[in-house]
Amino acid sequence: MSEPSLSYVNKNVLFPSEREKLFDQYKDIFETDYTLNRTLVSFQANKKEPFYRWFKYKEGFSKKLINYFIEKYHPSKGHILDPFAGSGATLFAAREKGWKTTGIEILPIGIYNVQARLSAEKVSLEEFKKEVNSFWKSFYKTSNSNAVIQHISITRGAFPEANENNLNHYLTCCKNVVNDSIRILLEFAAFSVLEEISFTRKDGQYLRWDSRANRSYGNTEFNKGEIYDFIKIVKEKIEDIIVDLSPAQNFDLFAPKEINIKISDPEILKGSSLEVLPSMKSNTFDFVMTSPPYCNRYDYTRTYALELIFLNNNDDDVKKLRQTMLTCTVENKEKLNYLANIYSELNRASDFDFINSIYFSHPAMSEINDVLSKLNELGKLNNSNIPRMVKNYFYEMLFVIFELYRLLKKGGVVVMVNDNVRYGGEEIPVDLIMSDFAKIIGFKIKKIWTLPTGKGNSSQQMGIHGRSELRKCVYIWEK
Ligand SMILES: C[S@@+](CC[C@H](N)C(=O)[O-])C[C@H]1O[C@@H](n2cnc3c(N)ncnc32)[C@H](O)[C@@H]1O
Repeated sequence: MSEPSLSYVNKNVLFPSEREKLFDQYKDIFETDYTLNRTLVSFQANKKEPFYRWFKYKEGFSKKLINYFIEKYHPSKGHILDPFAGSGATLFAAREKGWKTTGIEILPIGIYNVQARLSAEKVSLEEFKKEVNSFWKSFYKTSNSNAVIQHISITRGAFPEANENNLNHYLTCCKNVVNDSIRILLEFAAFSVLEEISFTRKDGQYLRWDSRANRSYGNTEFNKGEIYDFIKIVKEKIEDIIVDLSPAQNFDLFAPKEINIKISDPEILKGSSLEVLPSMKSNTFDFVMTSPPYCNRYDYTRTYALELIFLNNNDDDVKKLRQTMLTCTVENKEKLNYLANIYSELNRASDFDFINSIYFSHPAMSEINDVLSKLNELGKLNNSNIPRMVKNYFYEMLFVIFELYRLLKKGGVVVMVNDNVRYGGEEIPVDLIMSDFAKIIGFKIKKIWTLPTGKGNSSQQMGIHGRSELRKCVYIWEK
C-alpha cells in the first residue's frame, strides 16, 4: 500500500487556484493512517460480528472502526451522536462501551434494523427456538397466502415467482406469531435476504437487474450468479440469529463491557438531520461519529427499493424520501426554501443567514460551482444535474456542520468519514471544503486521516501521469 495523493493534481484545469490554496493551507494536517484499510472502514469487517452480520447494510461502519476512534479520541464515556445513523452501528458499538447514544436516520431501513436488534435483546433463546419450530409447522401446513409485498414500479418483477409466493406466505404466517419481539425477528430474517432471493444486485447508484428477470435494462447482459431459494436462505438466516442469541455470543453482543453500568437503549430519531438537528439542545453531546451520504450519486432509495417496499413504502413515499434525503443524487432538488422555513419556524433566521453567508462567500466552493457550470456548458459532464447536486450537497452539509458545532460540548470531537469525488475530470476535494467550513464555524481541524490507497503509485508519479486516486478520509474536528 502506498501514500494517497497528497498533492493537488488538477494543475491544468480552467480555474485551479482556490482549491490549491486550500490544499496548501491544510497540507500539514493530512496524515495516512495505515490501520484504516477499506475493510476496517466498511461493512466488510462486520461479516463475522454477531448481529452486525444479519442485515448487510453496505454503507455501514464496522464495529471495529467505531471502537478505534472512540478509544483514540474520547476514551471516557459520554453522549454520542450519529446524525446519519444508518444501521445504528455507532449507537450499538458505543453503547457497549457504556455511552449514551442518539442517532438520526431518515430511511426506515436503518430504523427497522435498530428495532430488530432491540427486539433480539428481549427474546429468550429457548422461546425463540420453540416458536421457530411451530412457525415452520404452520408454514408447511397452510398455503395460498395473499400478497403481502406490494410492489412499486422500480421493484416489479424483482423476485422469481416461487420466491415471491413463499415470501408472501412466510410473512402471512408471521402475522400469527403472538410474541412481538419474536415476530419482528422472524420478519427481519426475511428482510435481510431480499437481495439474495431477487434478480437484483445493489450496485452503488442503482439496483442492477439480472438478465433472467423479465425486465429489459439496456443492452448490457448481467448475471448475478445464484439466486437463492427463499426458504433455504431464510432458514440459514434464522440459524445465524440463533447462534448469535446463544449465551456464549450474548455477552459480547449486548452487555456493556464494563460491569455495573446502567445503559439505556439507543435513541434513534426518525427524520432528516436537516430538520432534527436544528431543534436539539445546544451543548448536549461529547462526541459525533458519522458518515454522511457521499457526494457520489448513490441513490439509496433505488438500491434499497426492495427493503423499502417490504416496509410498506409506496411510490410516493419512496419519491418523498429521495427528495428529503441529503442531496447526493442528480434528482435532488434544492432545499433552500425548506431550510429557510425550518430556521424561521425556530426563530433562528439569523443563523440561516449566517450559514448562507459562509456558503456564498466561500472562494473554493464558488470555484467548484463555477467550474462545474462551465463544464456543463461545454457538455463535459455525463449528467447536466451534477452541478446542482454538488452545489446542494455542500450547502446542506454546511447546515449539518453548523449544528454539530452548536450541539457539541466544548472539547467535543467530530469524527466524519467521507470520500472525495471527481466529475468531468475535476477533483472535488470534499475533505478540504468540509473541513474549511468546520474551521470557519469554529472547529479546530485536528487531523484529516487518509486511507492508504490500494495502488503502488507514489503521489509524485500520480501527479505526473495525470489522475490521482481520490482521497478517502476521516476528518477529526474539535470544538
Ligand atoms: C454512509 S450512510 C451511514 C451508515 C452508518 N454509518 C452505518 O454504520 O450504518 C449515510 C446514511 O445517511 C442517511 N441519510 C441520508 N440523508 C439523511 C438525512 N437528511 N437525515 C438523516 N439521515 C440521512 C442514509 O439513509 C444513510 O443511512
